[in-house]
Amino acid sequence: MAIRPILTVPDPVLKQVSKPVEGPVTDELRRLMDDMLETMYDAPGIGLAAVQIGVPLRIIVMDLAKKGEPPAPRYFVNPEILWASEEKKGWEEGCLSVPEIYDEIERPARIRVRYMDYDGTTIEEEAEGLYAVCLQHEMDHLEGTLFIDYLSRLKRDSAIRKVKKATRDAAL
Ligand code: NI
Repeated sequence: MAIRPILTVPDPVLKQVSKPVEGPVTDELRRLMDDMLETMYDAPGIGLAAVQIGVPLRIIVMDLAKKGEPPAPRYFVNPEILWASEEKKGWEEGCLSVPEIYDEIERPARIRVRYMDYDGTTIEEEAEGLYAVCLQHEMDHLEGTLFIDYLSRLKRDSAIRKVKKATRDAAL
């Protein structure tokens, strides 16, 4: 496993639409997912899309285990939203590609999703709470959408400026 650099805004790769994985889940893809998970744990974060490490494929990793709980990694290949509730819920979101910026985003409270897991098994399930929020946030990455894209232009531009400045300062 290897920790890979995480791209931050305004890197244009983050705006790319990720391509579906064609065919079965191979060992090569599992190696990519292992790297993604290690990168996410190291950051630390609770979710990561492949495009955030510069690989525009429809793959997500996630771990929503609380502090003190054993790790509970989840893997999503080609995830699709089959249904979303009318009911919406606001949640304070952040993103490893937009470090140190947090804001409340409203999304459907519950969704039904289908995806392939680490073994390539197709799973269909319902998600709510943080799980639903995180899945929708990560699936947005696959469309080149960041959570700050839901904010006003003023807030978004200010967020990008802050990240750019912090990245530059860190490089000095
Ligand atoms: Ni994100």
